[in-house]
Amino acid sequence: MNHEVIEKNIGLMGILILIVVSMGALVEIIPLYFIKTVTEPVEGLKPYTALQLEGRDIYIREGCNNCHSQMIRPFRAETERYGHYSVAGEFVYDHPFLWGSKRTGPDLARVGGRYSDEWHRRHMNDPRSVMPESNMPAYPWLEKTKLDPSLIQKKMEVMNTLGHTVGQGDRYSKEEIEKAPAQLEGKTELDALIAYLQVLGTSLKSAR
Ligand code: HEC
Repeated sequence: MNHEVIEKNIGLMGILILIVVSMGALVEIIPLYFIKTVTEPVEGLKPYTALQLEGRDIYIREGCNNCHSQMIRPFRAETERYGHYSVAGEFVYDHPFLWGSKRTGPDLARVGGRYSDEWHRRHMNDPRSVMPESNMPAYPWLEKTKLDPSLIQKKMEVMNTLGHTVGQGDRYSKEEIEKAPAQLEGKTELDALIAYLQVLGTSLKSAR
């Protein structure tokens, strides 16, 4: 009898279907806010320094994430090639996260420390000079462009507010924010990008 009411009222049925279907999502998503391994940084993970934060923005600006994922899946083929699989606690300071799934190039989740700064310098200016068969584009302007420090303090303040949403408090102290522009003084965009690449995936002990 009641069912007849629902079946004859498509609007009501639509709403009820929506409620039923959203149950699955709620059961999956809500607990994530309370599970510590998801919201707390892994031991040793530090918020990005001013230079690394700028490097990360350049990484996004240049679209590196269109060809590179930053997420090692827990499969043998992946862990043997890239190192320990990625865990949620490594990404709590990433806004937005850059996991991705498109891999024209290799995953970069643990590229930190794998090559020297000088290797990255050559690779970014001319990938073919170190990897003859590479189809990665060259980014020669990064080395020629000085960092613009005008927004760094604002960016760090925004990062601080994001930490509050998961109860972590401030990521950057007043003093750190004050000193940030001076740390970027005289640095190029390439310096920042390399600083960022070199820290990726290095916080997890026994990662490699
Ligand atoms: C069109 C796709 C493409 C884009 C865009 C791209 N890459 Fe690559 N990248 C590749 C390929 C393919 C390789 C493997 C060959 C090589 O080492 O050059 C690679 C390799 C790398 C490596 C070496 C990884 C390793 O473990 O050997 C790094 C680091 C890297 N890219 C960083 C970047 C950064 C930073 C950017 C953005 C500024 C970028 N890539 C943009 C395709 C791309």
